[in-house]
Amino acid sequence: MKQYFFQTAGSIIAGCGSLERIVEHLQRLGSLESVLLVSQPFLQSSGTLDEVTNLLKSGGIAVHWNTDVQPEPTIAQLEELYNAIAEIPCDAIIGIGGGSVLDVVKLLSVMKTNNLSVREMLGTDLIPNPGIPTVLIPTTSGTGSEVTPNAIVTLPEEELKIGVVSRYLLPALVILDPLLTLGLPRDITASTGMDAYTHALESFISNKANRFSDMFALESIRNISASILQAYHHGEDRKAREDMLIGSMYGGMALTCAGTAAVHALAYPIGGKFHVPHGVANSMLLPHVMEFNFDAIVDRLALVAGAMGLQTGAGKQRDAEQVIEQIRLWTQEMSIPQDLALFGATREDIPELSLAASQVTRLMGNNPKVMTLDDIGAVYGKLFH
Ligand SMILES: NC(=O)c1ccc[n+]([C@@H]2O[C@H](COP(=O)([O-])OP(=O)(O)OC[C@H]3O[C@@H](n4cnc5c(N)ncnc54)[C@H](O)[C@@H]3O)[C@@H](O)[C@H]2O)c1
Ligand SMILES: [Fe+2]
Repeated sequence: MKQYFFQTAGSIIAGCGSLERIVEHLQRLGSLESVLLVSQPFLQSSGTLDEVTNLLKSGGIAVHWNTDVQPEPTIAQLEELYNAIAEIPCDAIIGIGGGSVLDVVKLLSVMKTNNLSVREMLGTDLIPNPGIPTVLIPTTSGTGSEVTPNAIVTLPEEELKIGVVSRYLLPALVILDPLLTLGLPRDITASTGMDAYTHALESFISNKANRFSDMFALESIRNISASILQAYHHGEDRKAREDMLIGSMYGGMALTCAGTAAVHALAYPIGGKFHVPHGVANSMLLPHVMEFNFDAIVDRLALVAGAMGLQTGAGKQRDAEQVIEQIRLWTQEMSIPQDLALFGATREDIPELSLAASQVTRLMGNNPKVMTLDDIGAVYGKLFH
């Protein structure tokens, strides 16, 4: 029998309006005198940061703010942010925002308690000490970062994105309030939703898939498939937004147990070099990588077809094909760019991108079929139309 391991956030609260109860849940973390709230300007202008600040202050907790997180942050931006907050006294760090904010908060927390540079943390289990407690409040339904031990940073010199993986990156508390995602613009709803779906699908076909990850992955796929188009077309639909937020959290749990695979490995170089947003990069690659893997994963894809609510029963091969067709229909309907040339890339970039992707061994090793440099190059080639 296989053995499985799973770890996640300390506590998770979810549901529309759950943010209002932040103080009550924070109190369970012990006595907090002051917290640092890390976010981005859009939440300042929407009034959310003021609201949270007032709640915290009325609970007797002093609040400091920093809203300077850049999307998909580089190491230099992260270090600059750390220098700005290093002297601020805080018992916990609260992150409200998309995956970029959540990842930054996870890293700031361990930077406070470890005398290491971010570069020295890159890789798996290289952080010796726990960080200060974090509270993660996602405003996109995509990364699932709120429940994963991962944080991703961009290395502009190497034109790559790399992960820091450590159990000390897991938060003490997660708040999933779908109301925070009602105003998410359409293009971000689409790309982040596809990122979440990719986490679930890649975990389900990963070499490391197991009973824990399968449960989270299928439930993630079920929620996202039911609601991604509704959330895209009718962003104010609370039920659709809740499905997407829960689906993305389950996707994060699935990838924590099983890992993502070649789609993510190939996405990082095009994110690092051409700044393709993470969810867009995954959406572009997903059908092509699944076609490459197809013969090894027909049985699994046929099960996915059922979870997606597709008309199944015409045989496993046909059921599996429908999954890839549906992914293509989604990306068309949600107008997610499919051409890498739109981001300034040319076919001449393929060898360098392929080499970089092949070096993401942490994820490539999870792919159900080995990909040679030529295989990777052939997939990248399909992104030029
Ligand atoms: N840690 C993990 O497990 C993990 C997994 C996958 C991806 N990631 C990383 O997460 C980052 C991407 O995160 P993301 O996809 O959530 O995007 P993001 O955090 O970069 O946000 C995308 C854009 O949406 C805006 N935004 C966020 N929430 C909004 C809202 N409610 N309303 C209006 N605008 C809003 C942001 O300001 C930003 O401009 C990448 O760096 C990626 O590599 C991490
Ligand atoms: Fe991702």
